[in-house]
Amino acid sequence: MRLEINDISKSFINNGETHQVLKDISFTIEEGEFVTLLGPSGCGKTTLLTIIAGFQQAEEGEIVLNDKKVVAPGPDRGFVFQNYALFPWKTVRENILYPMKQLKVPKAEREKRLEELLKMAQLEGKGSLYPHQLSGGMKQRTAVIRALASRPQVLLMDEPLGAVDFQMRKDLQEQLEAMWIKDRTTVIMVTHDVDEAVYMSDRVILMSNEQGKILADLSIPLERPRDREGKKYTMYKQQLMDLLGNKTIKKKETIYQVV
Ligand SMILES: Nc1ncnc2c1ncn2[C@@H]1O[C@H](COP(=O)(O)OP(=O)(O)O)[C@@H](O)[C@H]1O
Ligand SMILES: [Mg+2]
Repeated sequence: MRLEINDISKSFINNGETHQVLKDISFTIEEGEFVTLLGPSGCGKTTLLTIIAGFQQAEEGEIVLNDKKVVAPGPDRGFVFQNYALFPWKTVRENILYPMKQLKVPKAEREKRLEELLKMAQLEGKGSLYPHQLSGGMKQRTAVIRALASRPQVLLMDEPLGAVDFQMRKDLQEQLEAMWIKDRTTVIMVTHDVDEAVYMSDRVILMSNEQGKILADLSIPLERPRDREGKKYTMYKQQLMDLLGNKTIKKKETIYQVV
């Protein structure tokens, strides 16, 4: 798996004014990386993620997945929406089987994959429940395994924990991480939460509100699971917060690569 984001530009016209949301955005994602797109609300995270997904097109630039240009959505890219977007009239089991039926995966294989995914998400025995019968965390895990059902090359998640309250969010980050450790699908996750980015990611791509530029591309080579109180952890968090707050960082402390 290799995903290239090459010189992506995108603007929208609002009330007659052109607003450049993304300007010449480029980076490459390697197999198995957990990458976060971090930035303030309105900086273009969802726009970029949906361009990668093929839901909308960039004005300039291209997305290349395994040497093939992305022109439309496809099963090689799983997507988790911010509000989960589960089918409310389908059970957990039916929600997860749905994408595999669309892809005409043979029945025996579908059932095997279903069991595997339910186990991974600790949802064994919950297959016959409907979304309204699930807790927020169970809904979120169902949305993630539904996106993984088609064995995508890359999993795209748009603020998958955005609707979850602060306390529960930490638990869910840990559960999501545990699932990822078992699965190791390449992930691009959108968040505006600095702590979440540092906890979850191998790499954080920091986006700014000004002209759709990338502010920093920061590797976080800390062992997992991470100690949120740890010295290095705190340092990464502080650096990202400083960058978000546009504070100048002393050169010798610079561990990120500013693009
Ligand atoms: N379809 C659209 N039409 C017009 N403006 C849009 C559209 N989609 C997004 N925008 C604008 O682009 C900017 C970035 O939006 P978005 O990608 O949703 O940001 P984020 O996900 O980082 O909060 C915002 O100012 C938003 O209003
Ligand atoms: Mg968004």
